[in-house]
Amino acid sequence: MKQTYIAEIGKHIGAEVTLRGWLYNKRSSGKLGFLEIRDGSAMMQAIVSKKDVDEATWEASERATQESSVIVTGVPREHPKKPGVYELDVKTLELVGLASEYPITPKEHGVEFLMDHRHLWLRSKRQHAILRVRHTIIKAVRDFFDNNGFTLCDTPIFTPAACEGTTNLFEVNYFDEEKAYLSQSGQLYNEATAAAFGKVYCFGPTFRAEKSKTRRHLTEFWMVEPEVAYAKLDDVMELAEQFVSYVVARVLESRQEELKVLERDITKLEAIIPPFPRLPYDDAAKMLDEAFAAGKLENKFEYGSDLGSPDETYISSQFDKPVMVHRYPAAIKAFYMEPDPLRPDLALCVDVLAPEGYGEVIGGGERASSLEYLLKQIAAHGLPEEAFDWYLDLRKYGTFPHGGFGMGIERCVSWLCGLEHVRETIPFPRMLYRLKP
Ligand code: 4AD
Ligand code: MG
Repeated sequence: MKQTYIAEIGKHIGAEVTLRGWLYNKRSSGKLGFLEIRDGSAMMQAIVSKKDVDEATWEASERATQESSVIVTGVPREHPKKPGVYELDVKTLELVGLASEYPITPKEHGVEFLMDHRHLWLRSKRQHAILRVRHTIIKAVRDFFDNNGFTLCDTPIFTPAACEGTTNLFEVNYFDEEKAYLSQSGQLYNEATAAAFGKVYCFGPTFRAEKSKTRRHLTEFWMVEPEVAYAKLDDVMELAEQFVSYVVARVLESRQEELKVLERDITKLEAIIPPFPRLPYDDAAKMLDEAFAAGKLENKFEYGSDLGSPDETYISSQFDKPVMVHRYPAAIKAFYMEPDPLRPDLALCVDVLAPEGYGEVIGGGERASSLEYLLKQIAAHGLPEEAFDWYLDLRKYGTFPHGGFGMGIERCVSWLCGLEHVRETIPFPRMLYRLKP
């Protein structure tokens, strides 16, 4: 099949090419048709001149409706006034599939309407830009770990037990009355593969039965999780800042066009270079107290509780780089966290809060290496010990300090694209009230 992609059209100036795509938009002035063609790689204007084409082509161009599929041949040339912009002088146009009246028009639509038509909405310029940034982020994530000595070890999705608390677990039937849970995190398995390979990462879909309707939560999201044998909390923080900076730089390097479509203020992203500020939880709590006293926060922060969304938003707005909040109270964190030897009520953990109010993009820390401590924690969290026997083996057979983190891809996309909500950051979002399309 001879096909030229619009993204490469500049290489074919003056030569006849064939584009296969869809009609994005059309204007006509009786004798001239201006067709905006998209082929997945990019868009370009194709000009049909009645006097220069045969009747079938002219008629097809007149009949073609928004989103009709078309095959167009013609000769590309540079726009007379806009360098780098190309137009196609059409020779023939074949209507492959005439589209019925397209539900998404250039006028404004409500979010629910667009979400119901997500399968079509993906064709729009803005969604195209967002999902291309997503692709680049994922590529950068993989390159970062692949280039730094990490081995990819994928972790299972059907799991016998909870990793991140029992309140948001999806339960499924797994033969003969057995129950399985959809993975909330690959971390526990990462700890096993880290003992085998030293530096590992997993990257896959994770599931949380989040009953909350927020702009940051999906029920199915993609998480990348590195785990490093012998890493301490400081090493985890260093890895996180190197990693995030790398991903941001890659997006800036290769997605300028898309960021422009999204009207992203890229100076905010250019500031994302190491080191990132480190903020102990205790200091974050003080900061929130002062903000409340000054009338900058609606609710008083209660020491010992987790940071709420408005708290995270406030803290992150105080910095122009991601801020790493570390050493939260152990009582509000997952069972597997290593306690701080100097303050055993605190966990050696870190959350990375993205600037501009985007909140937590990364959660991680050091893992408890003592068998006795973990047994106590499993009991205290009401978890079934027998489901964790294999995990506890890691502490019996050569226990070792280790740590890592998880980054939600959608939160990262949302932040880098400057979006209001994570629902646009994944092709088909899954949320509390959304399982379709
Ligand atoms: O902070 P979380 O729950 O940490 C873990 O799951 C650890 N076991 C990871 C590890 O150390 N290997 O989740 C990590 C990240 C969050 O910072 C956020 O970016 C994302 O996963 N995340 C969500 N993203 C979208 N929707 C949700 N419901 C999310 N829950 C967490
Ligand atoms: Mg977290």
